[in-house]
Amino acid sequence: MINIDLTGKVALVTGSTRGIGHAIALTLAECGARVAIVGRDAAKAEDVAAQIGGGALGFGCDVSVPAEVTALVAAVEERCGSLDILVNNAGITRDNLMLRIKDEDWDAVINANLRSAFVATRAASRGMMKRRWGRIINITSVVGLMGNKGQTNYAASKAGLIGLTKSVARELASRNILCNAVAPGFIETDMTAAMAPEARTAMSQEIPLERLGSPSDVARAVAFLSSDSASYITGQVLVVDGGLAM
Ligand code: NAI
Repeated sequence: MINIDLTGKVALVTGSTRGIGHAIALTLAECGARVAIVGRDAAKAEDVAAQIGGGALGFGCDVSVPAEVTALVAAVEERCGSLDILVNNAGITRDNLMLRIKDEDWDAVINANLRSAFVATRAASRGMMKRRWGRIINITSVVGLMGNKGQTNYAASKAGLIGLTKSVARELASRNILCNAVAPGFIETDMTAAMAPEARTAMSQEIPLERLGSPSDVARAVAFLSSDSASYITGQVLVVDGGLAM
């Protein structure tokens, strides 16, 4: 339990039916926010929302389809009465060496990871501007800072999120809307479970804190950036990686 009060705030977290997004939604709910759980499967999102409680609602949305994202933001605002905290977390990988990446794998990753965040931010910022309060938090990756062999599409999408974050931070600062990014390192989720055991061991040895992170390590950083304690922080990338990328 962390000592952050988000009572009265509505938070939308994309890709929150599992992994890091689920931990973020749970933590924001523990801090008192009403959360909108989003996954491609509406029934699953509703189940997760019911488990979280606190007025959480579930929504189905494929974030790589712009019209669905715009409709999602409208639905959350209508059903929850507001949208104060937007966490663009949903993301995918389609890893391959650069020479072997197909156009469709490039487009799929850019659309799911980067365009989705732009469309959600554009839609959500209108209400935030009217209310003169907002928090937009983009989940990028250390790979967006460092690059990675076999992940040109993913790294480009995550680096793009950092440019989006800083530009949105500059455009919306005068309306008291803060936009920051959180860059996780290697976190124990389904995404990293797919790695070969030798690759996991090799990776852990590169991390100064000598362990993979947990989804809640990332969630606590998001809760802090959502809170009034972070009210003078915008346009930043908070790296949560056990020291890997420093
Ligand atoms: P995950 O694969 O466990 O969960 C991703 C979530 O996003 C799932 O709920 C999935 O259904 C959802 N999602 C994916 N595409 C979607 C779409 N088109 N529409 C709606 N929902 C969609 O992944 P994980 O590990 O929890 O990652 C969450 C975020 O953190 C991603 O953006 C990822 O790139 C980022 N990240 C993860 C790291 C890790 O080590 N696990 C490290 C750095 C960043």
